[in-house]
Amino acid sequence: MLGRQLALEFAGREFDFFASDLEVDICSRQCLQDFVRGKKIRWMVNCAAYTAVDRAEDEPERALAVNGAGVENLSRLAAQLGARLIHFSSDYVFAGGGKEPYRENAQPRPLSRYGWSKWQGEIKLAAALDTFFLFRISWLYGVYGPNFVHTMLKIFREKETARVVNDQFGSPTYAAALAENIAGLIGADSDCYGVYHYCDSGAISWFDFAQRIMDLALEFGMIPKKIPLEAVPTSVFPTAAIRPSYSVLDSGKAVRELGFQVRGWQLNLKRFFREKTLLEDTL
Ligand SMILES: NC(=O)c1ccc[n+]([C@@H]2O[C@H](COP(=O)([O-])OP(=O)(O)OC[C@H]3O[C@@H](n4cnc5c(N)ncnc54)[C@H](OP(=O)(O)O)[C@@H]3O)[C@@H](O)[C@H]2O)c1
Repeated sequence: MLGRQLALEFAGREFDFFASDLEVDICSRQCLQDFVRGKKIRWMVNCAAYTAVDRAEDEPERALAVNGAGVENLSRLAAQLGARLIHFSSDYVFAGGGKEPYRENAQPRPLSRYGWSKWQGEIKLAAALDTFFLFRISWLYGVYGPNFVHTMLKIFREKETARVVNDQFGSPTYAAALAENIAGLIGADSDCYGVYHYCDSGAISWFDFAQRIMDLALEFGMIPKKIPLEAVPTSVFPTAAIRPSYSVLDSGKAVRELGFQVRGWQLNLKRFFREKTLLEDTL
């Protein structure tokens, strides 16, 4: 999801870049060496990850191999090449027991194996490389790939009612807005390395998000009618992985130190609908 969005943004800015997919396995040092051979690389952006949050409970070794060891491979490669590495982690590294947005220096305490694997990646990154940018993001969605907004749209089209949890709070991150900020960072050749939090502004529950998605889906003609939405507690939808109940991230440092633009989640959600409409018109 994020990788395609970034590639689109880089292409639009005429950056000189090489994109890769599964053919470049970040778990294979040989594969990575083969990929960079003969190329002059100044920046690396890692969007590869094991992102199946619930499945990670059953296959934690696989999650750790990609999100831990894979990130270590990339970090060492960046050190070897003298390159800067941009990497993404998750709000799920936090336990989410509080009521204040998380700052960068908050102590991770993941509740899930996915969260644990992402945290291990953070540790390996910082141990292997100085020239890194680590962005913890939350509730990522975009026009590409499966995500909560696409899931809701499918449910609103196919079901007569829907139930959505209203006791998990966070902030969505619109991939296109993040991609613009990342491209700006690279364009400015920033060396303000470190850990940053980034998400759209505003703290909401999944239920709040779903309600607004339904309103806009109707406005943009993507669903024929509204369906009743019921707010339910997390206990109604038991999942393999435990999620934090409050994982709002404080993006202040990225705004102050990197000049990132942060927009409200409602503005970005509307933008998503505009961009999705354009994309579907061109298909
Ligand atoms: N989605 C969210 O809500 C969310 C929230 C917070 C943070 N993040 C973080 O944001 C980043 C981008 O997430 P995303 O949602 O864009 O992820 P995504 O759509 O799942 O994309 C990750 C890609 O990495 C590929 N991949 C898996 N193992 C690989 C390997 N060994 N070598 C190379 N590629 C491999 C995956 O391929 P397969 O699909 O074939 O496995 C997939 O194409 C990730 O670091 C994620 O942890 C995401």
